[in-house]
Amino acid sequence: MAVSPSERGMWNSKLGFVLAAAGSAVGLGNIWRFPSEVAENGGAVFVLIYLACCFLIGYPVMVAELTIGRKTRRNPYGAFRALSSNPIYGLIGLWGILCGVGILAFYNVVAGWTFSSMFSEIFLAAGNTELAEYFANTGDGTKNAIFSAVFMVVTVFVVAGGVSAGIEKVAKTLMPVLVVMLLVLIGVVITREGAGTGLAEYLKPDFSELSVGLIFQAMGQAFFSLSLGMGALITYGSYLQSRQDIPEAAVYVTFADVGIAFIAGLLIIPSMYVAQNVGIEIFDEGGALIASDTLVFNVLPALFHTMGGLGVFFGVSFFLLLTFAALTSTISLLEVPTAFLVDETKLNRKTSAAVMGAIILVISIVTSYDLSWIGRLNLIFSDIGLPLGGLLISLFLVYVWRTSNALKEIDNGSDSSLFIQVWPALVQYVAPLLIAIVLGTTLYNVFA
Ligand code: TRP
Repeated sequence: MAVSPSERGMWNSKLGFVLAAAGSAVGLGNIWRFPSEVAENGGAVFVLIYLACCFLIGYPVMVAELTIGRKTRRNPYGAFRALSSNPIYGLIGLWGILCGVGILAFYNVVAGWTFSSMFSEIFLAAGNTELAEYFANTGDGTKNAIFSAVFMVVTVFVVAGGVSAGIEKVAKTLMPVLVVMLLVLIGVVITREGAGTGLAEYLKPDFSELSVGLIFQAMGQAFFSLSLGMGALITYGSYLQSRQDIPEAAVYVTFADVGIAFIAGLLIIPSMYVAQNVGIEIFDEGGALIASDTLVFNVLPALFHTMGGLGVFFGVSFFLLLTFAALTSTISLLEVPTAFLVDETKLNRKTSAAVMGAIILVISIVTSYDLSWIGRLNLIFSDIGLPLGGLLISLFLVYVWRTSNALKEIDNGSDSSLFIQVWPALVQYVAPLLIAIVLGTTLYNVFA
């Protein structure tokens, strides 16, 4: 069904697009998931492999997504249908949309934790320990369901507001605040005792930790963090003005995301050791670092609480920061299935956002009561689903649509000769081969 660009919406400015895409990328993946994965996977080696994945696989796939989106001006499903007469390729888009639904379903629950933790900090400051404990408890199903519903309602409102009046406006307001808050927090933690041990763990690689499992995790993290592999950036690319420089915009978004993940690591890994220094447990009985959610939702608050009045300020700011970061990401996750309904059915944007939000919320509520679903949804739709989607997107671009056609589209707005020399090799060979090898080996190890 043809929907005109004015009905679909468009970014107002290049900066607006970059901030919206960076807002999509920067989220719980950077501040919650990345530091936890670093801590669990051997510190600096993981950081190095992650960086390699972002630039060798992530960047070329990001350009592929944006280009497909701007060329077709469609949601992922519509985009693949528009570029080939064979309807089978629509399945790549449908898989992406399904991944969006599956990821948002658990993401929303964790986002709810960040928001409720903020209330916990406020009640603690007010001296009400009972309410503080209630809001900090991630195991309370009803509380989880309520907060995930609140988060979904806010997300639906922004997405229903439209591309530039909703998504772009929120990103423009929240992204700068987020960066400033992060820097202030680091300034405080890094000077405390114990921070040095954490910094060494974070920055000095120990290559004996390297394994296929680690590379699989790092690759999954790169896709998740850059919001790639499910067509979120096909969708965001479909709102780009025609003469914008895609390779350059993708560089900004990649650096913003990688930069913020790296800085978040600088905050969280040293914080853990500062916490240990003041007597907070960070290793379990077996000597391994305690689980990821505990790290951010228990260890950090415990650390803040040793800091007196300043700690209150940090506790509240930290969870507010996480809430903002999560919101610009839930927006992008909901935008993909919403755009699908807007383009492919007669529903308008407001109804589409509400319908999708309601469907996803049902899965979030189930997850709220049984948190083991977070791991399951994450494994299927992000760790496996996103690299698989990225592989299919690059293969489609190369063998069905053709790299030369993509380059013609990119040529509108870009004149970088370096890009033209490097990108085709990355998207044709490097990215698909690396993804196929890592994904194939891992699946083989799991099922064989
Ligand atoms: N990138 C976000 C984060 O790091 C999560 C996210 C938002 C995402 N939109 C996405 C992941 C689309 C994959 C695809 O928290």
